[in-house]
Amino acid sequence: MARCVVPVVAAYATVALMFFLLLSLPPRRQHRPHRRLKLRTAAIARTPGDRHRIPFDPIISEMEIIRDDREWERNHFVSIGGAPPAEPQPEWEKFTDAEDYINDEDKFNVTDRIKILFPKIDVSPQDGFITHEELTEWNFKQAENEVLHRTRRDIELRDKDHDGCISFQEYEPPNWVRRTHDYNLTDEKVGWWKEEHFNASDMDGNGCLNLTEFNDFLHPADTNNPKLIEWLCREEIRERDKDDDGRLNYHEYLTSLFRLIRNYDEFSSSTHGAGSSSDTHAKQLFAQLDLDHDGFLSANELKPIINDLHPSERFFAKQQADYVISQVVDLGHSECINSKLI
Ligand SMILES: *[C@@H]1O[C@H](CO)[C@@H](O)[C@H](O)[C@H]1NC(C)=O
Ligand SMILES: *[C@@H]1O[C@H](CO)[C@@H](O)[C@H](O)[C@H]1NC(C)=O
Ligand SMILES: *[C@@H]1O[C@H](CO)[C@@H](O)[C@H](O)[C@H]1NC(C)=O
Ligand SMILES: *[C@@H]1O[C@H](CO)[C@@H](O)[C@H](O)[C@H]1NC(C)=O
Repeated sequence: MARCVVPVVAAYATVALMFFLLLSLPPRRQHRPHRRLKLRTAAIARTPGDRHRIPFDPIISEMEIIRDDREWERNHFVSIGGAPPAEPQPEWEKFTDAEDYINDEDKFNVTDRIKILFPKIDVSPQDGFITHEELTEWNFKQAENEVLHRTRRDIELRDKDHDGCISFQEYEPPNWVRRTHDYNLTDEKVGWWKEEHFNASDMDGNGCLNLTEFNDFLHPADTNNPKLIEWLCREEIRERDKDDDGRLNYHEYLTSLFRLIRNYDEFSSSTHGAGSSSDTHAKQLFAQLDLDHDGFLSANELKPIINDLHPSERFFAKQQADYVISQVVDLGHSECINSKLI
């Protein structure tokens, strides 16, 4: 096939473009070449709902993590009197600002980074093209690393008896939870951060959450643990179940659940635009979810849509891949790349 004469070179250009986009531009802003590269701040990475720009380059990710860690240590260790241990200084540390380092082309050669990273992304198969799936998988791995790193730090902070896992006694809900949910142990309306949530995360039931289990506890949307997925579904019901019968009737579904699902739902786009069809759509979806046709949604029946209600890291990894690839297509890079990319 003579379709793609210089696929690899063109693909490098494509990835270089992605790289700029990912590093420096919030989604939906106009792309400008040679914009200064920016690191994300810890605050952005930690704000719930706004943490979903996944770093593309592991070096950048490491910088962000180290910077986060410094801040974390300042916040947590200084207050309890211990100094953080000295670490080996990475080369970029000589720069007063890590951003100066990544913007210094002699030190941080973006073209070279792309060349190094490309074969790591282009793995299934290694054919000189980055596919949608490959980019999603790459994003997902980067995100997963970051999330696990933060969980590890969180465990260090809470693990008072240093046994490497968190017991329910050691666990205290984060401050923002107390503020936003008016956290109250006797309030039955919200189950997050309580013992039932804790128990559901405890896969082996030993009363202590290890790294995997505690990470699941913090990010139940990303879990493979069926007990925790069931808990999450029950929680979705509990929050919306106005008449406390343990399930959702059509009205409860329509007023609180449907609105959330339709944003993600793919088949809503086919009926999109016609306001009157939204009601039909709501009914259709309800019928589809109500597997036992009893006119109510049970926790079990929410399982198929739980990832629409709680998007997982994989969802965001895919979304970011979609975004990047759509930008590349917009900019009209080599058609043979595009057809492969999509
Ligand atoms: C960056 O790397 C590319 C390819 O290896 C090379 O052509 C270019 O001169 C390098 N830029 C700098 C400033 O070293
Ligand atoms: C928690 O809720 C109970 C009753 O629901 C109330 O008496 C108590 O004051 C609340 N505690 C806090 C800290 O808000
Ligand atoms: C959680 O598990 C512990 C130990 O198995 C048990 O004592 C406790 O009652 C459980 N709590 C809830 C809310 O299920
Ligand atoms: C944590 O415990 C679970 C259940 O026993 C196990 O599947 C998982 O591999 C453990 N994770 C780590 C990091 O040890």
